[in-house]
Amino acid sequence: MKIQHDLQIKFGNEYGPEEERAVIEVLRQGAPTSGDACIQFENDFAAYCGTTHARAVSNGTAALFLSLLGVGVKPGDRVLTTPLTWIATAAAGVTLGAEVDFVDVDPVTYNLDPKKLEEKLTPNTKAVLPVHLYGQCCDMDPILALSKQHGFAVVEDACHAVGAEYKGRKAGSMGTTGCFSFHEQKNISTLGEGGMIVTNDPGVFETIALYRSHCTRVYGKSTKYCSLDETKLPMGKRFWWQDFDDCGYNFRMTDVQAAVGIVQLRKLDAFNQRRIDNAAYLSAGLQGVPGLTLPCVVPGNKHVFHLYPVQVDPAEFGMVREDFIYAMMNERGVKVGTHYTPLHYSTAFRNRGFKKGQFPVAEAISERLVTLPINPRQTREALDYLIESVRQMQKR
Ligand SMILES: Cc1ncc(COP(=O)(O)O)c(C=O)c1O
Repeated sequence: MKIQHDLQIKFGNEYGPEEERAVIEVLRQGAPTSGDACIQFENDFAAYCGTTHARAVSNGTAALFLSLLGVGVKPGDRVLTTPLTWIATAAAGVTLGAEVDFVDVDPVTYNLDPKKLEEKLTPNTKAVLPVHLYGQCCDMDPILALSKQHGFAVVEDACHAVGAEYKGRKAGSMGTTGCFSFHEQKNISTLGEGGMIVTNDPGVFETIALYRSHCTRVYGKSTKYCSLDETKLPMGKRFWWQDFDDCGYNFRMTDVQAAVGIVQLRKLDAFNQRRIDNAAYLSAGLQGVPGLTLPCVVPGNKHVFHLYPVQVDPAEFGMVREDFIYAMMNERGVKVGTHYTPLHYSTAFRNRGFKKGQFPVAEAISERLVTLPINPRQTREALDYLIESVRQMQKR
């Protein structure tokens, strides 16, 4: 039973006594929002990513939305991303009134294909959102080179890829901004929801910080001290008044979440290492299974295996993807996922004029793609059970 439990709770991290203590401490301080714990979490996170700024937000969706707003995306601008992602990536542009289009993916990494990006660029292209799918960074150098040449912003969707690296650079730190999610299924979590934006651009940061919290600036009476956030005024200077530059949002994080985030961030590299080790064990055990394409790690990348994607070729494996998913659940108690159905198949994007056939590589991959359970809690026993289950399906 324990093995199935490890394999059914597919994703996510774990909490321990350190997180419990952090929660209690903040509770005893009245559990504020955007207070000292948030400031520390932001500072620690920026230091971890090697960026000058970080701002905690309520989730990854808010991080993407605020980033596009921060780089100046307006109604009518064009925003590009991959069709193989969670809807939040594309929805960020749509909800700002932008025209969202997709770029087909690389057949080996499943990430946005930089070779297909240039033909999709127009003078209206304001931002490109590369998604570091499953925990592996996109090929960022050609994307960043095109960004320099054509003047669009790069908003990295690093929601799967906290702690991942591309040629020694941290996911999220390479573009204009980087966006993270701390949803319960991600490699670290802040009590089920949470997010972060990192950037090295002070102007973009200021816009993001303002719109995150109702565009409020707080002025100290005696000192003319100005802060984007009341809680950041030193205690003695809290003779303040408040102005609003514009109408914004409330996408703030609470201190209880941030206190947990501080502890989770300290554990992140160890969690990721367990995922990397588990992925290597799975790949060794599944090597040579006919009709199974295992995930590829591009040299120079640190892939942090938020998910473990495999392609099932029905002719060689002897089973179509849907039967595989069903049999793994019903006969072996193993929950297998499908990340993702291409976004242009969804009602949201069919209603925006997209059709099957537009992104042939993503479409072909999605017909065969499944994600096997991976998380830092998996035991060797659970991994052996998973390998044996897949091998048994193939033999039938
Ligand atoms: C690739 C990707 N981008 C963005 C998001 C949105 O993050 P959140 O659920 O924290 O809003 C997710 C969440 O699953 C995701 O997988």
